[in-house]
Amino acid sequence: MTLLKLQSIMSNEVAKRSFFSRPPEPPVSVLLSDPFRSLYIGTTKIFRVPFTWSFFNLTNPHIAVVGITGSGKSFFVKTLLIRASYVWNTNAVIIDWAGEYRAWVKQSGGIIVSLAKGDYMNIMDLSGMKPIDRVKQIMNSLDILTDISQYPEQKRLTEEAIEQAYTNSGFRVSERAPEDAESPTLKDVITLLEEKLQEGTYEYPAELENTIYRLRQFAREGEDYFARKSTVDLGKLAQSGLVDIDLSGLPDEKFRALAGLFILQTLKERMRSEGWSETKGLKTMVVLDEAWKVASDEKSDAIMIVREGRKYNFGLIVASQNPTDINEAIFSNVGTTFILRIKFEKFLNYLQGSLNFSNFIRTEISKFGVGQAAVEMAFQTSLRFPETFVLERIHGEEPLYVYVLDMTDTLTQSEISSGIVARDYQFEKEELRNKLVDYGVSTEGINTIFGAFETSGRNMKMLEFIRMLRDTGGVSVENIVAFLKGMSIEDMIITRIVNSIGGI
Ligand SMILES: Nc1ncnc2c1ncn2[C@@H]1O[C@H](COP(=O)(O)OP(=O)(O)OP(=O)(O)O)[C@@H](O)[C@H]1O
Ligand SMILES: [Mg+2]
Repeated sequence: MTLLKLQSIMSNEVAKRSFFSRPPEPPVSVLLSDPFRSLYIGTTKIFRVPFTWSFFNLTNPHIAVVGITGSGKSFFVKTLLIRASYVWNTNAVIIDWAGEYRAWVKQSGGIIVSLAKGDYMNIMDLSGMKPIDRVKQIMNSLDILTDISQYPEQKRLTEEAIEQAYTNSGFRVSERAPEDAESPTLKDVITLLEEKLQEGTYEYPAELENTIYRLRQFAREGEDYFARKSTVDLGKLAQSGLVDIDLSGLPDEKFRALAGLFILQTLKERMRSEGWSETKGLKTMVVLDEAWKVASDEKSDAIMIVREGRKYNFGLIVASQNPTDINEAIFSNVGTTFILRIKFEKFLNYLQGSLNFSNFIRTEISKFGVGQAAVEMAFQTSLRFPETFVLERIHGEEPLYVYVLDMTDTLTQSEISSGIVARDYQFEKEELRNKLVDYGVSTEGINTIFGAFETSGRNMKMLEFIRMLRDTGGVSVENIVAFLKGMSIEDMIITRIVNSIGGI
Protein backbone atom coordinates (compact mmCIF):
# COMPACT_ATOMS: atom_id res chain seq x y z
CA MET A 1 0.00 0.00 0.00
CA THR A 2 1.16 3.50 -0.75
CA LEU A 3 0.86 6.33 1.65
CA LEU A 4 -0.76 9.36 0.17
CA LYS A 5 0.24 12.67 1.68
CA LEU A 6 -2.02 15.64 1.20
CA GLN A 7 -0.68 19.14 1.45
CA SER A 8 -2.11 22.48 0.57
CA ILE A 9 0.04 24.69 -1.60
CA MET A 10 -0.45 28.01 -3.30
CA SER A 11 -1.46 27.98 -6.93
CA ASN A 12 1.59 30.04 -7.95
CA GLU A 13 3.73 27.23 -6.50
CA VAL A 14 1.88 24.74 -8.65
CA ALA A 15 2.37 27.01 -11.65
CA LYS A 16 6.14 27.02 -11.08
CA ARG A 17 6.22 23.24 -11.17
CA SER A 18 4.10 22.96 -14.23
CA PHE A 19 5.86 22.77 -17.57
CA PHE A 20 3.08 24.76 -19.20
CA SER A 21 3.48 27.73 -16.94
CA ARG A 22 6.78 28.53 -18.57
CA PRO A 23 5.94 29.75 -22.03
CA PRO A 24 8.11 28.29 -24.78
CA GLU A 25 8.52 31.67 -26.45
CA PRO A 26 9.12 35.18 -25.14
CA PRO A 27 5.95 37.27 -24.73
CA VAL A 28 4.53 39.23 -27.65
CA SER A 29 5.59 42.51 -26.03
CA VAL A 30 9.21 41.39 -26.45
CA LEU A 31 8.92 39.78 -29.86
CA LEU A 32 6.96 42.51 -31.54
CA SER A 33 8.22 46.08 -31.24
CA ASP A 34 7.26 49.31 -32.89
CA PRO A 35 7.72 48.65 -36.64
CA PHE A 36 9.27 52.10 -37.09
CA ARG A 37 12.02 51.25 -34.65
CA SER A 38 12.63 47.57 -35.40
CA LEU A 39 13.24 45.14 -38.26
CA TYR A 40 10.81 42.39 -39.21
CA ILE A 41 12.51 38.97 -39.44
CA GLY A 42 9.83 36.26 -39.53
CA THR A 43 7.20 34.53 -37.41
CA THR A 44 7.83 32.32 -34.42
CA LYS A 45 7.25 28.62 -34.81
CA ILE A 46 4.89 27.86 -31.95
CA PHE A 47 2.61 30.85 -31.57
CA ARG A 48 3.22 32.36 -35.01
CA VAL A 49 4.00 35.75 -33.54
CA PRO A 50 5.75 38.19 -35.88
CA PHE A 51 9.26 38.79 -34.59
CA THR A 52 10.84 42.18 -35.11
CA TRP A 53 14.44 42.71 -34.11
CA SER A 54 15.83 45.73 -32.36
CA PHE A 55 18.70 46.12 -29.94
CA PHE A 56 17.36 48.73 -27.53
CA ASN A 57 16.77 46.28 -24.69
CA LEU A 58 19.69 44.00 -25.58
CA THR A 59 23.22 44.11 -24.26
CA ASN A 60 24.46 45.31 -27.68
CA PRO A 61 23.53 45.53 -31.37
CA HIS A 62 25.99 42.89 -32.60
CA ILE A 63 24.81 39.69 -34.25
CA ALA A 64 26.33 36.26 -34.82
CA VAL A 65 24.85 34.01 -37.54
CA VAL A 66 25.85 30.37 -37.67
CA GLY A 67 24.68 27.46 -39.82
CA ILE A 68 25.90 24.92 -42.33
CA THR A 69 26.45 25.81 -45.96
CA GLY A 70 23.17 26.55 -47.71
CA SER A 71 21.28 27.04 -44.44
CA GLY A 72 20.51 30.68 -45.29
CA LYS A 73 23.10 32.83 -43.47
CA SER A 74 23.85 35.23 -46.30
CA PHE A 75 20.18 35.41 -47.23
CA PHE A 76 19.38 36.46 -43.68
CA VAL A 77 22.15 39.07 -43.64
CA LYS A 78 20.87 40.59 -46.88
CA THR A 79 17.32 40.70 -45.56
CA LEU A 80 18.47 42.41 -42.39
CA LEU A 81 20.64 45.00 -44.18
CA ILE A 82 17.88 45.98 -46.60
CA ARG A 83 15.35 46.42 -43.81
CA ALA A 84 17.82 48.35 -41.66
CA SER A 85 18.41 50.71 -44.54
CA TYR A 86 14.66 51.30 -44.93
CA VAL A 87 13.86 51.71 -41.26
CA TRP A 88 16.98 53.35 -39.86
CA ASN A 89 18.82 54.51 -42.94
CA THR A 90 21.66 52.26 -41.84
CA ASN A 91 24.83 52.14 -43.93
CA ALA A 92 26.50 48.79 -44.45
CA VAL A 93 30.02 47.67 -45.23
CA ILE A 94 30.29 44.02 -46.23
CA ILE A 95 33.68 42.38 -46.02
CA ASP A 96 32.83 39.86 -48.70
CA TRP A 97 35.29 36.97 -48.58
CA ALA A 98 33.84 34.94 -51.44
CA GLY A 99 32.21 37.66 -53.54
CA GLU A 100 28.82 36.27 -52.49
CA TYR A 101 27.12 39.62 -52.03
CA ARG A 102 28.42 41.30 -55.15
CA ALA A 103 25.48 40.66 -57.49
CA TRP A 104 22.97 41.53 -54.81
CA VAL A 105 24.71 44.79 -53.87
CA LYS A 106 24.89 45.76 -57.52
CA GLN A 107 21.22 45.02 -57.98
CA SER A 108 20.38 47.04 -54.86
CA GLY A 109 22.22 50.07 -56.23
CA GLY A 110 25.13 49.85 -53.78
CA ILE A 111 28.85 50.43 -54.30
CA ILE A 112 31.21 47.60 -55.16
CA VAL A 113 34.89 47.74 -54.38
CA SER A 114 36.62 44.90 -56.21
CA LEU A 115 40.10 44.41 -54.90
CA ALA A 116 42.44 42.87 -57.45
CA LYS A 117 39.89 43.58 -60.14
CA GLY A 118 40.66 47.24 -60.68
CA ASP A 119 40.45 48.59 -57.12
CA TYR A 120 43.35 49.21 -54.75
CA MET A 121 43.65 50.16 -51.10
CA ASN A 122 46.78 51.78 -49.78
CA ILE A 123 47.17 50.36 -46.29
CA MET A 124 49.20 53.43 -45.37
CA ASP A 125 46.29 55.79 -46.13
CA LEU A 126 45.57 57.88 -43.08
CA SER A 127 42.08 59.20 -43.78
CA GLY A 128 42.58 61.79 -41.06
CA MET A 129 44.46 59.60 -38.57
CA LYS A 130 47.79 60.25 -36.92
CA PRO A 131 50.59 58.35 -38.69
CA ILE A 132 51.71 56.88 -35.38
CA ASP A 133 48.33 55.19 -34.95
CA ARG A 134 48.35 53.82 -38.46
CA VAL A 135 51.85 52.46 -37.91
CA LYS A 136 50.58 50.54 -34.89
CA GLN A 137 47.71 49.14 -36.93
CA ILE A 138 49.94 48.03 -39.78
CA MET A 139 52.28 46.34 -37.30
CA ASN A 140 49.27 44.66 -35.71
CA SER A 141 48.14 43.27 -39.06
CA LEU A 142 51.66 42.03 -39.81
CA ASP A 143 51.63 40.43 -36.39
CA ILE A 144 48.45 38.53 -37.16
CA LEU A 145 49.40 37.55 -40.68
CA THR A 146 53.15 36.94 -40.61
CA ASP A 147 55.81 35.59 -38.27
CA ILE A 148 57.16 39.08 -37.50
CA SER A 149 56.53 38.85 -33.76
CA GLN A 150 59.26 36.22 -33.51
CA TYR A 151 61.87 38.66 -34.85
CA PRO A 152 62.04 41.76 -32.67
CA GLU A 153 64.84 43.37 -34.67
CA GLN A 154 62.92 42.98 -37.93
CA LYS A 155 59.85 44.35 -36.24
CA ARG A 156 61.78 47.40 -35.14
CA LEU A 157 63.24 47.92 -38.62
CA THR A 158 59.81 47.69 -40.22
CA GLU A 159 58.20 50.09 -37.79
CA GLU A 160 61.00 52.58 -38.14
CA ALA A 161 60.91 52.48 -41.94
CA ILE A 162 57.13 53.00 -42.03
CA GLU A 163 57.45 56.03 -39.76
CA GLN A 164 60.32 57.34 -41.86
CA ALA A 165 58.22 57.03 -45.03
CA TYR A 166 55.52 59.19 -43.45
CA THR A 167 58.08 61.78 -42.35
CA ASN A 168 59.64 61.85 -45.83
CA SER A 169 56.18 62.54 -47.30
CA GLY A 170 55.83 65.59 -45.07
CA PHE A 171 53.72 64.19 -42.24
CA ARG A 172 54.36 64.63 -38.54
CA VAL A 173 54.02 61.25 -36.92
CA SER A 174 51.97 62.30 -33.93
CA GLU A 175 49.73 64.84 -35.58
CA ARG A 176 46.47 64.24 -37.37
CA ALA A 177 46.98 64.39 -41.11
CA PRO A 178 44.77 66.57 -43.29
CA GLU A 179 42.12 64.42 -45.02
CA ASP A 180 43.46 65.06 -48.51
CA ALA A 181 47.19 64.65 -47.85
CA GLU A 182 48.77 61.99 -50.03
CA SER A 183 50.14 59.06 -48.03
CA PRO A 184 53.26 57.09 -48.95
CA THR A 185 52.91 53.41 -49.86
CA LEU A 186 54.57 50.17 -48.78
CA LYS A 187 56.77 50.52 -51.87
CA ASP A 188 58.31 53.67 -50.38
CA VAL A 189 58.94 51.75 -47.16
CA ILE A 190 60.67 48.95 -49.05
CA THR A 191 62.81 51.47 -50.98
CA LEU A 192 63.98 52.97 -47.69
CA LEU A 193 64.99 49.56 -46.38
CA GLU A 194 66.75 48.70 -49.64
CA GLU A 195 68.72 51.92 -49.50
CA LYS A 196 69.77 51.07 -45.96
CA LEU A 197 70.93 47.66 -47.14
CA GLN A 198 72.93 49.17 -49.97
CA GLU A 199 74.66 51.62 -47.67
CA GLY A 200 76.22 48.52 -46.15
CA THR A 201 76.65 50.06 -42.70
CA TYR A 202 73.89 48.20 -40.87
CA GLU A 203 75.41 45.42 -38.80
CA TYR A 204 72.82 42.65 -39.35
CA PRO A 205 72.21 42.61 -43.11
CA ALA A 206 70.37 39.26 -42.92
CA GLU A 207 67.74 40.83 -40.63
CA LEU A 208 67.35 43.66 -43.08
CA GLU A 209 67.00 41.28 -46.02
CA ASN A 210 64.30 39.30 -44.26
CA THR A 211 62.45 42.47 -43.34
CA ILE A 212 62.42 43.52 -46.99
CA TYR A 213 61.40 40.05 -48.10
CA ARG A 214 58.42 39.98 -45.73
CA LEU A 215 57.08 43.32 -46.91
CA ARG A 216 57.69 42.58 -50.57
CA GLN A 217 55.06 39.85 -50.61
CA PHE A 218 52.51 42.65 -50.28
CA ALA A 219 54.08 44.93 -52.86
CA ARG A 220 55.13 42.75 -55.80
CA GLU A 221 54.17 44.00 -59.22
CA GLY A 222 50.76 42.50 -60.03
CA GLU A 223 50.14 41.73 -56.35
CA ASP A 224 50.46 45.26 -55.04
CA TYR A 225 46.79 45.56 -54.13
CA PHE A 226 47.67 47.33 -50.87
CA ALA A 227 50.75 49.20 -51.98
CA ARG A 228 49.30 51.63 -54.51
CA LYS A 229 47.30 54.79 -54.30
CA SER A 230 43.78 53.94 -53.10
CA THR A 231 40.99 53.99 -55.65
CA VAL A 232 38.47 54.19 -52.79
CA ASP A 233 37.86 56.99 -50.34
CA LEU A 234 38.33 54.98 -47.17
CA GLY A 235 37.14 57.77 -44.94
CA LYS A 236 33.70 57.62 -46.54
CA LEU A 237 33.18 53.84 -46.45
CA ALA A 238 30.95 53.93 -43.41
CA GLN A 239 28.62 56.61 -44.81
CA SER A 240 28.07 55.41 -48.34
CA GLY A 241 24.90 53.36 -48.15
CA LEU A 242 25.52 49.75 -49.10
CA VAL A 243 29.15 48.91 -49.83
CA ASP A 244 30.46 45.52 -50.86
CA ILE A 245 34.19 44.98 -50.53
CA ASP A 246 34.66 42.00 -52.79
CA LEU A 247 37.82 40.16 -51.76
CA SER A 248 37.28 37.11 -53.93
CA GLY A 249 39.77 38.26 -56.57
CA LEU A 250 42.71 38.36 -54.15
CA PRO A 251 45.12 35.45 -54.58
CA ASP A 252 44.91 33.92 -51.12
CA GLU A 253 43.63 34.02 -47.58
CA LYS A 254 46.53 36.14 -46.37
CA PHE A 255 45.67 38.97 -48.74
CA ARG A 256 41.98 38.69 -47.93
CA ALA A 257 42.71 38.83 -44.22
CA LEU A 258 44.99 41.86 -44.67
CA ALA A 259 42.18 43.66 -46.48
CA GLY A 260 39.64 42.64 -43.84
CA LEU A 261 41.82 43.75 -40.94
CA PHE A 262 42.67 47.04 -42.62
CA ILE A 263 39.03 47.87 -43.34
CA LEU A 264 38.03 47.09 -39.76
CA GLN A 265 40.84 49.29 -38.46
CA THR A 266 39.70 52.15 -40.65
CA LEU A 267 36.07 51.71 -39.64
CA LYS A 268 36.96 51.54 -35.97
CA GLU A 269 38.87 54.83 -36.23
CA ARG A 270 35.92 56.42 -38.01
CA MET A 271 33.56 55.16 -35.38
CA ARG A 272 35.64 56.68 -32.62
CA SER A 273 36.32 59.97 -34.34
CA GLU A 274 32.69 60.54 -35.29
CA GLY A 275 31.81 60.05 -31.67
CA TRP A 276 28.55 59.36 -29.94
CA SER A 277 25.54 59.44 -32.18
CA GLU A 278 21.91 60.37 -31.65
CA THR A 279 20.43 58.33 -34.49
CA LYS A 280 17.44 56.22 -33.60
CA GLY A 281 18.79 52.98 -35.02
CA LEU A 282 22.13 51.74 -36.23
CA LYS A 283 24.30 54.14 -38.16
CA THR A 284 26.47 51.49 -39.77
CA MET A 285 26.55 47.71 -39.88
CA VAL A 286 29.76 45.90 -40.68
CA VAL A 287 29.42 42.38 -42.04
CA LEU A 288 32.09 39.71 -41.74
CA ASP A 289 30.94 36.63 -43.65
CA GLU A 290 33.24 33.59 -43.38
CA ALA A 291 36.15 35.88 -42.59
CA TRP A 292 37.51 33.44 -40.07
CA LYS A 293 41.00 34.91 -39.69
CA VAL A 294 39.56 38.35 -39.08
CA ALA A 295 36.85 37.09 -36.74
CA SER A 296 39.00 34.66 -34.80
CA ASP A 297 42.18 36.52 -33.90
CA GLU A 298 42.10 38.23 -30.55
CA LYS A 299 44.13 41.15 -31.92
CA SER A 300 41.55 41.86 -34.62
CA ASP A 301 39.60 45.10 -34.45
CA ALA A 302 36.40 43.08 -34.80
CA ILE A 303 36.72 42.69 -31.04
CA MET A 304 37.15 46.43 -30.49
CA ILE A 305 34.03 47.09 -32.54
CA VAL A 306 32.10 44.57 -30.44
CA ARG A 307 33.31 46.18 -27.22
CA GLU A 308 32.66 49.78 -28.18
CA GLY A 309 30.10 49.60 -30.97
CA ARG A 310 27.00 50.19 -28.91
CA LYS A 311 27.84 53.68 -27.82
CA TYR A 312 28.54 54.72 -31.41
CA ASN A 313 25.52 52.91 -32.91
CA PHE A 314 27.83 50.66 -34.87
CA GLY A 315 26.80 47.03 -35.29
CA LEU A 316 28.92 44.04 -36.29
CA ILE A 317 27.43 40.97 -37.96
CA VAL A 318 29.62 37.88 -38.02
CA ALA A 319 28.45 34.91 -40.10
CA SER A 320 30.19 31.55 -40.12
CA GLN A 321 29.65 27.89 -40.84
CA ASN A 322 31.80 27.08 -37.87
CA PRO A 323 30.88 28.76 -34.58
CA THR A 324 34.27 27.91 -33.09
CA ASP A 325 35.91 30.13 -35.74
CA ILE A 326 34.34 33.17 -34.12
CA ASN A 327 36.51 34.51 -31.33
CA GLU A 328 34.97 33.86 -27.93
CA ALA A 329 35.21 37.52 -27.02
CA ILE A 330 32.88 38.19 -29.94
CA PHE A 331 30.68 35.15 -29.58
CA SER A 332 30.00 35.51 -25.90
CA ASN A 333 29.32 39.23 -26.26
CA VAL A 334 26.97 39.53 -29.19
CA GLY A 335 23.46 40.64 -28.25
CA THR A 336 21.75 38.27 -30.68
CA THR A 337 22.67 34.91 -32.17
CA PHE A 338 20.79 33.44 -35.11
CA ILE A 339 21.38 29.70 -35.28
CA LEU A 340 20.42 28.17 -38.58
CA ARG A 341 20.80 24.50 -39.34
CA ILE A 342 23.81 22.93 -37.59
CA LYS A 343 24.56 19.28 -38.00
CA PHE A 344 27.89 18.56 -36.30
CA GLU A 345 27.53 17.36 -32.75
CA LYS A 346 30.66 19.21 -31.65
CA PHE A 347 29.24 22.53 -32.90
CA LEU A 348 25.89 21.81 -31.25
CA ASN A 349 27.73 21.02 -28.02
CA TYR A 350 29.66 24.25 -28.24
CA LEU A 351 26.56 26.33 -28.94
CA GLN A 352 24.49 24.65 -26.27
CA GLY A 353 27.35 25.04 -23.80
CA SER A 354 27.72 28.74 -24.39
CA LEU A 355 24.10 29.71 -24.99
CA ASN A 356 22.43 27.28 -22.64
CA PHE A 357 19.40 26.36 -24.67
CA SER A 358 17.23 23.30 -24.03
CA ASN A 359 17.59 19.89 -25.62
CA PHE A 360 14.30 20.56 -27.36
CA ILE A 361 15.85 23.55 -29.16
CA ARG A 362 18.98 21.51 -29.89
CA THR A 363 16.97 18.83 -31.67
CA GLU A 364 15.05 21.47 -33.59
CA ILE A 365 18.30 23.09 -34.79
CA SER A 366 19.62 19.81 -36.15
CA LYS A 367 16.40 19.32 -38.13
CA PHE A 368 16.01 22.84 -39.54
CA GLY A 369 15.27 23.35 -43.20
CA VAL A 370 16.61 26.26 -45.26
CA GLY A 371 15.82 29.62 -43.65
CA GLN A 372 14.69 28.23 -40.29
CA ALA A 373 16.46 29.59 -37.25
CA ALA A 374 16.68 29.64 -33.49
CA VAL A 375 17.16 33.10 -32.05
CA GLU A 376 18.97 33.78 -28.80
CA MET A 377 18.91 37.26 -27.32
CA ALA A 378 20.89 38.65 -24.42
CA PHE A 379 18.64 41.10 -22.62
CA GLN A 380 19.97 43.86 -20.41
CA THR A 381 17.77 42.76 -17.55
CA SER A 382 17.12 39.17 -16.64
CA LEU A 383 13.66 38.05 -17.58
CA ARG A 384 11.42 35.15 -16.80
CA PHE A 385 11.06 33.64 -20.19
CA PRO A 386 13.35 31.55 -22.36
CA GLU A 387 15.88 33.64 -24.24
CA THR A 388 16.03 31.20 -27.15
CA PHE A 389 13.09 30.58 -29.45
CA VAL A 390 12.51 29.16 -32.89
CA LEU A 391 11.45 31.01 -36.02
CA GLU A 392 9.24 29.17 -38.43
CA ARG A 393 11.23 30.82 -41.22
CA ILE A 394 13.18 33.97 -41.94
CA HIS A 395 10.91 35.90 -44.26
CA GLY A 396 13.04 37.54 -46.87
CA GLU A 397 12.25 39.33 -50.05
CA GLU A 398 12.72 36.22 -52.22
CA PRO A 399 10.30 33.31 -52.12
CA LEU A 400 11.83 30.05 -51.00
CA TYR A 401 11.92 27.26 -53.55
CA VAL A 402 12.53 24.02 -51.74
CA TYR A 403 12.88 20.42 -52.89
CA VAL A 404 12.31 17.76 -50.27
CA LEU A 405 13.94 14.34 -50.08
CA ASP A 406 11.78 11.91 -48.17
CA MET A 407 13.84 9.30 -46.32
CA THR A 408 10.97 6.91 -45.57
CA ASP A 409 12.13 4.37 -48.14
CA THR A 410 15.51 4.04 -46.40
CA LEU A 411 13.86 2.54 -43.30
CA THR A 412 13.40 -1.18 -42.78
CA GLN A 413 9.98 -2.70 -42.13
CA SER A 414 10.86 -3.36 -38.50
CA GLU A 415 12.01 0.22 -37.99
CA ILE A 416 8.73 1.46 -39.43
CA SER A 417 6.67 -0.84 -37.24
CA SER A 418 8.63 0.17 -34.15
CA GLY A 419 7.52 3.75 -34.81
CA ILE A 420 10.73 5.28 -36.18
CA VAL A 421 9.91 8.24 -38.40
CA ALA A 422 12.32 9.24 -41.14
CA ARG A 423 13.25 12.89 -41.34
CA ASP A 424 13.12 14.94 -44.48
CA TYR A 425 16.03 16.71 -46.09
CA GLN A 426 15.37 20.03 -47.75
CA PHE A 427 17.36 21.69 -50.47
CA GLU A 428 16.89 25.12 -51.86
CA LYS A 429 16.57 24.59 -55.62
CA GLU A 430 19.56 26.69 -56.70
CA GLU A 431 21.74 25.16 -53.98
CA LEU A 432 20.88 21.69 -55.20
CA ARG A 433 21.63 22.78 -58.74
CA ASN A 434 25.10 23.96 -57.65
CA LYS A 435 25.77 20.65 -55.93
CA LEU A 436 24.71 18.67 -58.99
CA VAL A 437 26.92 20.85 -61.21
CA ASP A 438 29.81 20.10 -58.83
CA TYR A 439 29.21 16.39 -59.33
CA GLY A 440 29.35 16.84 -63.09
CA VAL A 441 25.65 16.42 -63.88
CA SER A 442 24.81 18.06 -67.24
CA THR A 443 22.21 20.80 -67.58
CA GLU A 444 19.98 18.31 -69.34
CA GLY A 445 20.36 15.81 -66.50
CA ILE A 446 19.58 18.49 -63.92
CA ASN A 447 16.46 19.54 -65.81
CA THR A 448 15.24 15.94 -65.92
CA ILE A 449 15.83 15.49 -62.17
CA PHE A 450 14.15 18.82 -61.35
CA GLY A 451 11.27 17.86 -63.66
CA ALA A 452 10.77 14.72 -61.57
CA PHE A 453 10.64 16.83 -58.41
CA GLU A 454 8.07 19.16 -59.95
CA THR A 455 5.76 16.36 -61.09
CA SER A 456 5.73 14.87 -57.60
CA GLY A 457 4.97 18.04 -55.64
CA ARG A 458 8.70 18.94 -55.15
CA ASN A 459 9.03 15.86 -53.03
CA MET A 460 10.94 12.70 -53.95
CA LYS A 461 11.78 9.48 -52.16
CA MET A 462 15.46 9.21 -51.32
CA LEU A 463 16.17 5.95 -53.13
CA GLU A 464 14.38 7.13 -56.23
CA PHE A 465 16.46 10.31 -56.20
CA ILE A 466 19.72 8.41 -55.75
CA ARG A 467 18.85 6.12 -58.67
CA MET A 468 18.20 9.17 -60.82
CA LEU A 469 21.53 10.67 -59.75
CA ARG A 470 23.28 7.52 -60.93
CA ASP A 471 21.24 6.73 -64.07
CA THR A 472 20.21 10.16 -65.36
CA GLY A 473 22.99 12.22 -63.86
CA GLY A 474 25.82 9.70 -64.32
CA VAL A 475 27.09 10.45 -60.79
CA SER A 476 29.63 7.91 -59.52
CA VAL A 477 28.95 5.89 -56.38
CA GLU A 478 31.88 7.66 -54.66
CA ASN A 479 30.24 11.01 -55.34
CA ILE A 480 26.87 9.70 -54.21
CA VAL A 481 28.49 8.70 -50.92
CA ALA A 482 30.13 12.12 -50.65
CA PHE A 483 26.78 13.80 -51.32
CA LEU A 484 25.06 11.73 -48.62
CA LYS A 485 27.87 12.39 -46.15
CA GLY A 486 27.56 16.09 -46.89
CA MET A 487 23.95 15.81 -45.74
CA SER A 488 25.31 14.25 -42.53
CA ILE A 489 23.41 11.02 -43.02
CA GLU A 490 24.63 8.24 -40.73
CA ASP A 491 27.09 5.74 -42.23
CA MET A 492 24.73 2.86 -41.59
CA ILE A 493 21.98 4.46 -43.67
CA ILE A 494 24.48 5.42 -46.40
CA THR A 495 25.53 1.77 -46.68
CA ARG A 496 21.91 0.79 -46.89
CA ILE A 497 21.23 3.31 -49.67
CA VAL A 498 24.32 2.29 -51.64
CA ASN A 499 23.44 -1.42 -51.32
CA SER A 500 19.93 -0.80 -52.51
CA ILE A 501 21.18 0.69 -55.77
CA GLY A 502 23.46 -2.28 -56.34
CA GLY A 503 26.51 -1.38 -54.23
CA ILE A 504 29.92 -0.16 -55.35
N1 LIG B 1 14.70 32.33 -45.54
C1 LIG B 1 14.87 32.07 -46.84
N2 LIG B 1 13.87 32.29 -47.73
C2 LIG B 1 14.05 32.05 -49.05
N3 LIG B 1 15.21 31.58 -49.60
C3 LIG B 1 16.23 31.36 -48.77
C4 LIG B 1 16.11 31.58 -47.35
N4 LIG B 1 17.29 31.27 -46.79
C5 LIG B 1 18.09 30.86 -47.79
N5 LIG B 1 17.46 30.90 -48.98
C6 LIG B 1 18.03 30.50 -50.27
O1 LIG B 1 18.83 29.34 -50.00
C7 LIG B 1 20.07 29.39 -50.69
C8 LIG B 1 21.23 29.26 -49.71
O2 LIG B 1 21.21 30.34 -48.82
P1 LIG B 1 22.54 31.16 -48.44
O3 LIG B 1 23.37 31.43 -49.62
O4 LIG B 1 22.07 32.31 -47.62
O5 LIG B 1 23.26 30.07 -47.54
P2 LIG B 1 24.57 30.28 -46.62
O6 LIG B 1 24.21 29.76 -45.27
O7 LIG B 1 25.06 31.66 -46.72
O8 LIG B 1 25.56 29.25 -47.29
P3 LIG B 1 27.20 29.35 -47.43
O9 LIG B 1 27.73 29.02 -46.08
O10 LIG B 1 27.49 28.29 -48.44
O11 LIG B 1 27.52 30.74 -47.87
C9 LIG B 1 20.06 30.68 -51.48
O12 LIG B 1 19.70 30.39 -52.82
C10 LIG B 1 19.01 31.53 -50.80
O13 LIG B 1 18.38 32.40 -51.71
MG1 LIG C 1 26.81 32.51 -47.33
